[in-house]
Amino acid sequence: MSFAQELDEKRLHCEAVLKAFLPHAENEAGLQESEQVSHYAGAVAEAMRYSAEAGGKRLRPMFLYETCSMYGGRTELAEPFMAALEMIHTYSLVHDDLPAMDNDDYRRGRLTTHKVYGDGMAVLAGDALLNYAYETAAAACDRAGTPAEMKNVIRALRLLMRNAGIHGMVGGQCADLEAEKKDEIEAEELLYIHIHKTACLIDSGLAIGAILAGAPEEDVEKLHTISRCIGLAFQIRDDMLDVIGDEKKLGKKTGMDAEDHKITYVSMYGLEAAEKEVNRLTEEALALYDSLSAKNAFLRELLMSLVGRSY
Ligand code: IPE
Ligand code: IPE
Ligand code: MG
Ligand code: MG
Ligand code: MG
Repeated sequence: MSFAQELDEKRLHCEAVLKAFLPHAENEAGLQESEQVSHYAGAVAEAMRYSAEAGGKRLRPMFLYETCSMYGGRTELAEPFMAALEMIHTYSLVHDDLPAMDNDDYRRGRLTTHKVYGDGMAVLAGDALLNYAYETAAAACDRAGTPAEMKNVIRALRLLMRNAGIHGMVGGQCADLEAEKKDEIEAEELLYIHIHKTACLIDSGLAIGAILAGAPEEDVEKLHTISRCIGLAFQIRDDMLDVIGDEKKLGKKTGMDAEDHKITYVSMYGLEAAEKEVNRLTEEALALYDSLSAKNAFLRELLMSLVGRSY
């Protein structure tokens, strides 16, 4: 099987896992009462599914699954976290696209959630996805078979929450918004933005999978560093694609960073330096990856492939 085929299969697997955990349609047959969404909340459930089922690369749950299986972990424990992480990522995009933030009309090849359901419902869909993510991930407690597994699940939950909040993605989004008001920022501030808004949710993929599998501590530490490098490279590439990317492939509009007066790696250092930095960070990540105590050839190729991604 080619890498592209394998990637597609894995993406579909992540999608199926996510779909199984999303709130069901109110009229779906065979649901217990506690699983049924009241029709009064039907609009928000629909907006949640609209954004979450729109597609996307599903990279974060894929990372989680790959590191969990690479250390011999159980799929049953990984699945609720895979779904939860993609819900958190999707919520971050729904809110990121709001008029009060980046004001974008297209995402994942379709109109943004607020364009279809209105700003208020998009705020609620994001809130609901975040809360449902924690409800979903916490259900992994019921799947832990031993006290050691329970300990791993609780540690994974704490990391999932921390990486999403003020010490993680929300912190980065805050700095990103504040930076819009400035004419220039220090290199250190841009680094803070990229690490927090992007690398933290990537860390929730790579590190949580390993934690759930009970990977050696030294490897978990290395995976945090790998996530930081890959996350930085990923956001720099995203900033590059906003300038040189193809809207059709990306499923979102280009040229928006300049319109929003964003200071990005590209606006600060230029495209050529950005490309070099993406390469350098990826090499650093791969060198560390090769020193891990377990191997996963697909994951290695996936990390490498992100360097030149066009979507
Ligand atoms: C977009 O993330 C937001 C950034 C952190 C740059 P992705 O590029 O992973 O978006 P989807 O999930 O594939 O739509
Ligand atoms: C988004 O960064 C990061 C998060 C949503 C947390 P961007 O604002 O650059 O992402 P896109 O370009 O809208 O996907
Ligand atoms: Mg943004
Ligand atoms: Mg944006
Ligand atoms: Mg962007």
